[in-house]
Parts: sequence; C-alpha cells; structure tokens
Amino acid sequence: MAFDHRKYVPFKPIAKADRRWPSRVIEKAPTWCAVDLRDGNQALVKPMSVAQKQRMFDLLVKLGFKEIEIGFPSASQPDFDFCRKLIEEKRIPEDVKIQVLTQARPELIERTYEALKGARRAIVHVYNSTSTVQREQVFGLDRAGIRDIAVNGARLVKELAAGFPDTEWTFQYSPESFTGTELDFAAEVIDAVTEVWRPDQGQPVIINLPATVEMATPNVFADQIEWICDTIRYREHLSISVHTHNDRGCAVAAAELAVMGGADRVEGTLMGNGERTGNMDLVTMAMNLYSQGIDPMLDLSGMAEITEVVEACTEISTHPRHPYAGELVFTAFSGSHQDAIRKCLSKRREGDAWHVAYLPIDPSDLGRRYEEVVRINSQSGKGGVAYVLERDYNISLPRWLQIEFSKVVQREAETDGGEVDSHTIHRLFEERYLKVHPDWALRAYDLHRNEEGVQAEVSVGESADPVSLTGRGLGAVEAVSDALERRFGIALAVEAYDEFALSEGTNANALACIRLTVNGKPCSAAALAEDTTSATLQALFSAVAQAVGVTMPEAEAADA
Ligand code: KIV
Ligand code: ZN
Repeated sequence: MAFDHRKYVPFKPIAKADRRWPSRVIEKAPTWCAVDLRDGNQALVKPMSVAQKQRMFDLLVKLGFKEIEIGFPSASQPDFDFCRKLIEEKRIPEDVKIQVLTQARPELIERTYEALKGARRAIVHVYNSTSTVQREQVFGLDRAGIRDIAVNGARLVKELAAGFPDTEWTFQYSPESFTGTELDFAAEVIDAVTEVWRPDQGQPVIINLPATVEMATPNVFADQIEWICDTIRYREHLSISVHTHNDRGCAVAAAELAVMGGADRVEGTLMGNGERTGNMDLVTMAMNLYSQGIDPMLDLSGMAEITEVVEACTEISTHPRHPYAGELVFTAFSGSHQDAIRKCLSKRREGDAWHVAYLPIDPSDLGRRYEEVVRINSQSGKGGVAYVLERDYNISLPRWLQIEFSKVVQREAETDGGEVDSHTIHRLFEERYLKVHPDWALRAYDLHRNEEGVQAEVSVGESADPVSLTGRGLGAVEAVSDALERRFGIALAVEAYDEFALSEGTNANALACIRLTVNGKPCSAAALAEDTTSATLQALFSAVAQAVGVTMPEAEAADA
C-alpha cells in the first residue's frame, strides 16, 4: 500500500512540566531579520539577478528591516559579487546590518570575510547540522564530532573578525536542523560555541534556532525554545532567534509561540518564499502583531508595492488568499458577510477602535480600497447589491426593491457563472427599472390641490401628439392612478412607493421607486428626475407600461 501512515513515527513531546509560554502575551515586535536574499533566493527555480537582488534589498530597507541576510557569498559567486557591490557602492544604510551565511568550514569562513571586507557592520552567520538524522546518516559523526565542527568554526569566525577591527561584528550560530536535535545536545553545542565567543564579555552574539524542517505542532517548538532559553549559559547576553519553515503550514504560528517561549528575534521572508513550503512569512507575522495593536516596527502600508516587488524578484505570484496581501483577503461575496460589514462600516465613526465583522484589520491601512470589500456573485444577497449601487452610483434602494433587484443580479450571475461588477449591476438596474419608453415619457403635469384633494392633468409621450390624462385623488399618485384607470380601463393598486433626494454631483435630483399591481399583475419601476414629483409620476408610468405593454394602448374609456 503506497499511502501508508504507519511508515511515520510521531514526534515525541517535550517532557516539560513548567512551561510558562502558554500564559505569555506578545507585547512588542521581535527583532526582524529578512532572509529573502539568502534562504528565499536559494529556493528559487531561477535565482535572482543582481537587479532583482538590489530591488529586494531596497524594498527591505524601505520597509524598515535593520538586519538583512544578503546571501551565502562563500558558496555562490553571484552572492559574493552582490555583497561586494553593496559594500563598495555604499548602498547599506548606516543603521542596517547585513548578514551572510557560511557553513562552519575553514575555507568558507575565510571567503566570507573576504566578501565582507570594508563593511561597517555585519553579522557572520555560521551553521552546522546537529540533528540525529544528519549526524548518523549524512555526516557519519558522533556528537563530539559535530560539536567540534561548530567550535572550530566559532574559533575561526572570532579569529578572522579580529583582523577587521573597523567593522562592528555580530556573530551568529545556528544548529541547523535544530528541531530534530536532542535538546541536551543542542544546548551542549550552543554552550560550546558561546564559550568561544563570550557574549558576556561584550561580543554581540545571536543564537538562531531553526525549524529547518517543521516536524511537530507549534507548541512543541515553543517548548523547545523555552527549554533552551532556560538551559543554556549566557542566556541574558544572547539574542535568541528563530527561523521557522512551513512544512506543516504553521511557520508563523511556530514563530509566534517561540516568541512567547522567549525568542527575541525572528527570521523569515516576505510572503514566506523559501525552501519547500517556504520560510516564515514576515508579512503575516508582522501584520498579526499590528492587528493586536502592537507596532510591528515595519511599514507594510504599501502592500501593493510589496507584492509587486516580491513577485518581480521571485517570479512567484501571490496567492489571492494570502493573509493580508492576497487580492481576495478583504473581499466578501456572501450576502450575510456583506450585510454585516456594511452595517459595521456605516456605524463606524472616525477615531473609533476597529470592530468590523469579518475584517480583522482596516483594508485601507494596507492601501486597499473599500471598493474591493464587497464584490458580487451568485452568492451575494440584497445588501451587497444595494451597497454597490449606493457606493458607486449614489442610488439607495428601498428594502422591497433591494430584494427584488438582487434576484435580477443573481440571475445574471448564475447565467454568467462569475462575478458581476459594479458597472454591470448599474446597467442591469437601468435596463430593468429606469428605462423610459418614449410613449410613456412624462411630458408635463399640473396638480391643483383643494379641500377635496388633488386634481391632476398630465400629458404623456414624446410624440407630436401626447396623450392627456386627468384624474382625482387624495395625493398626486392617487390622482394620476385614477387618470390612468379612467383612460385605459385598468384596475391599479399602488403597493409601495419611495422617493429619495439625491446628493449633489448627480444629474438628477430625485429617485422614485414604485411597485403596483395592474389588473392584479405585479410590476415595478424606478425613475430619476429633477424633482421628486416628476420622478414619482415617471416611475408610475414606467410600471404601468410594463403591465399593459410599452406601446400606449388605445383609450378604452376615453374622457370618461
Ligand atoms: O533552515 C535552516 O536551518 C537554515 C539555516 C541555515 C539557518 O536556513
Ligand atoms: Zn532556512
């Protein structure tokens, strides 16, 4: 059987009775380190060109990253050249530290320092693999052998740095494949490395704990981090960093829980590009903090630019559902969601805390437009359709017409099978409700009010010979309805009518909507006009036209 779960061994939980991280709350942003230009680049089908690297570097600086891993110069000539270019062309802002990766091998460490010659500040990131699997199956070394690689690497890093006293050095060590390493051994190696570097004597040191492969639930990773923080020597002099990968889809959660477990620093990439399923997504983690009212210490307000640059540099497109960044992440298609969002947004006052159903953050904070929030397809309800008409065309509909018109839009969406855009919604409304047939166009009206009610004289039709109607009633609608009944011998009952004044900036000043029955047959129409009476009478004529036919029928009881 090919699909056989019995092949796998469950990850052993960490025996830890005193875990404190579950009750911690993150209150400030960690130190961020972007590894797009190293881990991210290493994972690309087509590595970034110099121009793409430069563009990515400039974006990272602009977003506010102060630590940027720019490559693996000892393993790649393009990375070496890019490092030289940044230094020689003085492209690194004073408050930004570049970081470079090297394996803990003498020739690679030496080449790394060549690449960094002249840097004002730099982080030398040295690693070797420590996990059981790597020790036994890849390197064929015991614990002592692996520890010696790390220690010898650390010694050389320190020794060579001393030859460049003008550079402000930070040393970083990663026990690669940390998640698969026995914790006591990870602590042993870390202690051996820091014993060489002596962070307690003023040397800045970062210990980076990678989930090179994500192997368990994020709580297990948090346990591992808390355990290491509690165990290693010099903890208070160290910056503890995490570097999570996304094999189980939980890289962000693992990094967040690791911060709760004591990590000070987080490495990741924009949009989570990286080996296999990717690195931890810096955008998501930073925005998660932001949505909790915490300053992420990164400026992610230009999300369109971020996605554009990342896509251009990685040649990987952004998933439309990517948290905070995808095209659809602030969009509601379903009617109940649209309704709730619309209600919350309309109640919201400037300066209020953000409490909007279905929207964890304000889309405008990321440069997104409210126009994107409510989009219409066959699952949308009356609220969404009404919202779009009001938002884009200043047309507000009464509830009964919202219900009726949403069915028109739904039919269109079902026929078309996709989204109905704002322009189409407006066109459907015009075609179904606002169209005025020339025979039924209101030409003129005269209303006389006395103690008995209203006497209406109306002429209809654009021809040279318009039809004249007269009738009586308590109000204008009743009087004109009476005129229509007399003239055409029909029974007309008005079920609902609403009129709205339109705000400035539109050609018409009024919108009227009417629903009636003519000889028991329901019909409805709307009209835009300069004044509410004209709009109401025109809506009445258009509705009757639907019931009796657009061409003006012969008078049945003319002048009766
Ligand atoms: O994923 C990993 O373990 C790495 C290390 C080199 C830090 O990228
Ligand atoms: Zn990695």
